[in-house]
Amino acid sequence: ADRLSATQEQTLAMVKPDALKNFGAILGAVEAAGFTVGRLRMCQLTPAIAQGFYAVHADRPFFGPLTKFMSSGRIVAMELVAPGAIRKWRDLLGPTNSATARQEAPSSLRARFGSDNTRNACHGSDAPETAAQESAFFFNRSIGRCCSGSNTTLAL
Ligand code: TYD
Repeated sequence: ADRLSATQEQTLAMVKPDALKNFGAILGAVEAAGFTVGRLRMCQLTPAIAQGFYAVHADRPFFGPLTKFMSSGRIVAMELVAPGAIRKWRDLLGPTNSATARQEAPSSLRARFGSDNTRNACHGSDAPETAAQESAFFFNRSIGRCCSGSNTTLAL
């Protein structure tokens, strides 16, 4: 690897169902921030797959509403590559709660495109280990196992 690629990091970003209508603007923000998009997939998560993705939160009171929301419409999962991609993407997202984001980071993606603590527009991995796990979750499986609904019938 050359000196530039040695600095690269990857994160798993997701455009959640509430923000799919804003995918174009979000992709524009991704490009303006200097990320390269690696793999990308649009699909609808089954409830069971959404529960698997958020298994770490299974005991939290918001788990039911969260996984219902996450399986309510199509999402876009994408690998974003840049130096310091994990932190860089979370900075672009802003605080978890979109209402808080509108107060504290009004230009952030969650402020611009989300609604509240659950419907918050986008996801971003929080560490290198979870970035690798979440990337494998979406891309190291057949689309038929990952998803249901529209745009799920084409294998990669
Ligand atoms: P968390 O990992 O705390 O936040 P982040 O997405 O910023 O890393 O929570 C994961 C997701 O769970 C969050 O994006 C939305 C949902 N969530 C709720 O629905 N209610 C809550 O009170 C919290 C903290 C999170």
